[in-house]
Amino acid sequence: MKRPAADLITVAVPKGRLLQESSALFEKAVGVSPRALLEHTRKLAADAPEAGLRFISIRAGDVASYVEHGAAAVGVAGLDVLREEPRELYEPLDLGIGRCAVIVARPKGAAALPKGVAPRVATKYVSLASAHFAKKSLPAEIIELHGSIEVAPSLGLADVIVDITETGETLRANGLVIEEEVLSVSARLIVNRVALKLHAERLRRLIAALRAAASAGPA
Ligand code: PRP
Repeated sequence: MKRPAADLITVAVPKGRLLQESSALFEKAVGVSPRALLEHTRKLAADAPEAGLRFISIRAGDVASYVEHGAAAVGVAGLDVLREEPRELYEPLDLGIGRCAVIVARPKGAAALPKGVAPRVATKYVSLASAHFAKKSLPAEIIELHGSIEVAPSLGLADVIVDITETGETLRANGLVIEEEVLSVSARLIVNRVALKLHAERLRRLIAALRAAASAGPA
């Protein structure tokens, strides 16, 4: 059913590496690709009235904020982002895309730190990294960075990093090896709590369609 603009459900889709896989899932589930709608344009919102949806293109790390505050009813967000900063959201579905891991990595061949010396840890996952070392009862000095984390050890800024890895290419290229896994990550469908009550039936159908598309595997 084609719906008027005011009646569309807003879906926040992440820019960057999750965009392609998210788009393929939505295309399979509801017949519309947000990527196709949003590419070749500087517009950050595009309507798909035939699916009853409006897609907005959002930085991956901001999707959960949009959904928590109700600016979008639904979104796609990595478990790394969701666990780094827990929010009041429903997480009804593991979409099985965007698989990667939050890991601790260190320079290949680096000597172990003397006992009792707190490692300096470069990361954008301050909360996950702190909790990880606290759980092991290891003191750690957390150095917050926002990107290019992998270069920090070679410059003497940190002893180890906590970051995501997907293919392992960035670690290898920067002479780092994985020491341990902190969190296994995939992308989740997230839903605003109020929207789930207001649009219960439509969202139930959308979630069911995405669940079917996700369990059918890659397009
Ligand atoms: C992430 C992460 C690594 C890289 C790992 O960065 O911070 O740098 O991907 O991927 P790989 O194991 O496949 O090499 P991203 O590209 O998401 O950009 P960012 O540094 O801006 O977060």
